[in-house]
Amino acid sequence: MKPKWALVTGASSGLGVEFAKKLAQKNYDVIITARRADKLQQVAQLLKEKYKVNVLDYVCDLSNREDLEKFIKAVDSKVDFVHVLVNNAGFGKHELFVETEFPVLDSMMKLNMNHLTYLTHHYVKKMLKVGEGYVLQVASIGAYQPAPYYAVYAATKSYVLNFSAAVNFELRNTNVSVTTLCPGATITEFQEVAGHDIPPFIRKIAFMSAEKVAEIGIKAMFRRRSVVTAGIRNKVTYLLTRLVPRSWATWLAAKFSEE
Ligand SMILES: NC(=O)c1ccc[n+]([C@@H]2O[C@H](COP(=O)([O-])OP(=O)(O)OC[C@H]3O[C@@H](n4cnc5c(N)ncnc54)[C@H](OP(=O)(O)O)[C@@H]3O)[C@@H](O)[C@H]2O)c1
Repeated sequence: MKPKWALVTGASSGLGVEFAKKLAQKNYDVIITARRADKLQQVAQLLKEKYKVNVLDYVCDLSNREDLEKFIKAVDSKVDFVHVLVNNAGFGKHELFVETEFPVLDSMMKLNMNHLTYLTHHYVKKMLKVGEGYVLQVASIGAYQPAPYYAVYAATKSYVLNFSAAVNFELRNTNVSVTTLCPGATITEFQEVAGHDIPPFIRKIAFMSAEKVAEIGIKAMFRRRSVVTAGIRNKVTYLLTRLVPRSWATWLAAKFSEE
């Protein structure tokens, strides 16, 4: 049988590593990409040794369109068909909007939204030609309401959620689906990269493990669910944001972010 390939972006740390592991466990050969070559190579080694699958690792800055196009060309020259696409790479900044340098926001919007859209467009078209495929988009519970101190980040995730749910609807009569995963606080490098100082005891009691979040996402993707919120605590938070006026939800999000 021909090997089935899964492509995971942002697989040098955190959730991306766990998605890659879960897919390798299911016997997928895996394409992984991120900017840090050393970390990627370590992940590739682990996947090959532990799960005995083929791994292709590509160093790529996915916020850069030229790099992205080169990456896609390289993948498509090696692999006939990407059966699973996990658009996971992303970052946020925990800061006042006006205090964040614009190039940082620009690169965040390109990575989290524009190039996630580009990859989805490119691979969903190919999946439709073959007649089968799965896409998993990593959004956030920040997608559900405005999030002060993460204003642009949360807005990029609202885009991911609404864009992906709409495309999934358009694909409803096909064997291709787009699932959106909305994690809440998860133990990864995200907060460190965001410059968000979280006391260790809060991480211990309030954060989910990346392994559990990835498991929820992969399960929902193979069930072709449209949207899944990770964990009961985050589901309750989501319901709260639906029940109260937007101004209260914004206030609540600010409070969570200040903690
Ligand atoms: N952890 C949370 O609390 C949380 C909550 C909600 C949603 N999320 C979302 O979950 C996803 C995964 O993040 P994580 O929590 O696993 O954080 P993480 O450990 O910081 O991982 C982020 C991944 O994205 C990659 N990445 C960042 N910028 C990139 C770029 N310009 N080009 C290519 N790759 C890039 C990073 O690799 P390199 O640095 O090597 O490039 C890394 O592999 C993100 O979309 C994030 O928004 C996280």
